[in-house]
Amino acid sequence: MNEDDTCLETYKHFFARDLLRNKVAFITGGGSGICFRIAEIFMRHQCNVVIASRKLERVESAAKKLRDATGQRCLAVQLDVRNPTDVNVAIEKAIKEFGKIDILVNGAAGNFLCPASNLTANGFKTVISIDTLGTFNVSKAIYDKWMMEHGGTIINITATLHYTGVPMQMHAGAAKAAIEAMSRHLAVEWGPNIRINCIAPGPIERTEGFRRLGGASAVKDAYQETIPLQRFGTREEIANACLYFASDVSSYTTGATLVVDGGSWMTSGTPMKTFSKL
Ligand code: HXC
Ligand code: NAP
Repeated sequence: MNEDDTCLETYKHFFARDLLRNKVAFITGGGSGICFRIAEIFMRHQCNVVIASRKLERVESAAKKLRDATGQRCLAVQLDVRNPTDVNVAIEKAIKEFGKIDILVNGAAGNFLCPASNLTANGFKTVISIDTLGTFNVSKAIYDKWMMEHGGTIINITATLHYTGVPMQMHAGAAKAAIEAMSRHLAVEWGPNIRINCIAPGPIERTEGFRRLGGASAVKDAYQETIPLQRFGTREEIANACLYFASDVSSYTTGATLVVDGGSWMTSGTPMKTFSKL
C-alpha cells in the first residue's frame, strides 16, 4: 500500500456525525487514493463499507486501517470490475455480510498518459473496460441484486478531461464522458427510488492519478497558477462532496455531475497571473 493511504489524524465533521448511520456502501477502488478516503469519511459518518478491487492484499490491509481508525465495519473483497462473475460474487458476499447495499461508489479506474496516435486498440479498450464497462457491470449487478427492489444511491467518479480535450487523455476522457452519459440515462430509467450522480474531481494531490498525469513534475507550480483556487485539491474534498450525494441531503438531485476541481477546467491551463496583471 502507498504511504499516502493512511487514515486522517484529525477530521472536521461538516455534516452530522450520524449522517450515514446504519447505511452500507460498496466502493470500488476503495483500497487506495481518493476512494480509500471516501471509505474513511463515510465510516466517520457511521456507514459500514465494502471496499473492492483486484489486489486482495491491498483491500484487506486498507480495511484493517479503516476499521481501526473509525470503529465501523469494513469488508474487503476481491474483484476485477471487467469480470461480471467476479462482480456478482463480490456483491453476494457484501449482501451476505451486511444484508443490503444502500450506496454504490464506482471509483475503480485505469489511466496512463498516451497520445492517441500511439494508443493501441487494446490500450483504449482496457481503459474503457475498467472505467465505463466496469461502472456498468457493478451498477447493473447491484441494481439486480438489491437496488431495483429496495432503492439506493449511486455515485460515479468521473473527471473533467473531456470538457476541454486534454491531450494524451483521449482514452480516459472518452471513458469518463461515457460514464456521465450513462449516469443520466440510468437516472431516467432507474428513478424514482435510485439516484445516480457523478463527482468530477480535478487534480487531487497525493493520489496515483495525480502522479501518473505528471503532478509531481517541475510544471507543478506553473500548473497551480492556472487553477482559479490556486491549489490542488485534497482527497477529503472529494470525499466530502460524495457525502452530499450519498445522503438524503441531495434527495432531489439525480443525473447531475458535481465538478470539484477548484475551477480548474474553466481556465484550461491559462495562468491566472495573466489576468491579475490586467
Ligand atoms: C500506452 C499502455 C500504457 C501506457 C498500458 N498500455 N499502459 N499504452 N501507454 N503507459 C496498454 C498496453 O500496452 C496494452 O495494450 C493495454 O494497455 C493493456 O495493458 P495491461 O498492462 O495488460 O493492462 P492491465 O494489466 O489490465 O492494467 C490496466 C492499466 C494499469 C490501466 C494499464 O495501469 C492499471 O492497472 N491501472 C490502475 C491504477 C490506475 O491507473 N490509477 C490511476 C487512475 S487515475 P497492447 O496493445 O500493448 O496489448 C485516473 C485519473 C483521471 O483515472 C483524470 C485525472 C485528472
Ligand atoms: P488509484 O488510487 O489508482 O485508484 C484506482 C483504484 O481502482 C485502485 O484502488 C485499483 O485497485 C482499482 N482498480 C483499477 N482497475 C481495477 C479493476 N479492473 N477492477 C477493480 N478495481 C480496479 O487512483 P486515484 O487517483 O485515487 O483515482 C480514483 C478515482 O478518481 C478514479 O476513478 C479516477 O479516474 C478519479 N480521478 C482521479 C483524479 C486525481 O487527480 N487523482 C482526478 C480525476 C478523477 P487495484 O489495483 O487493487 O485493482
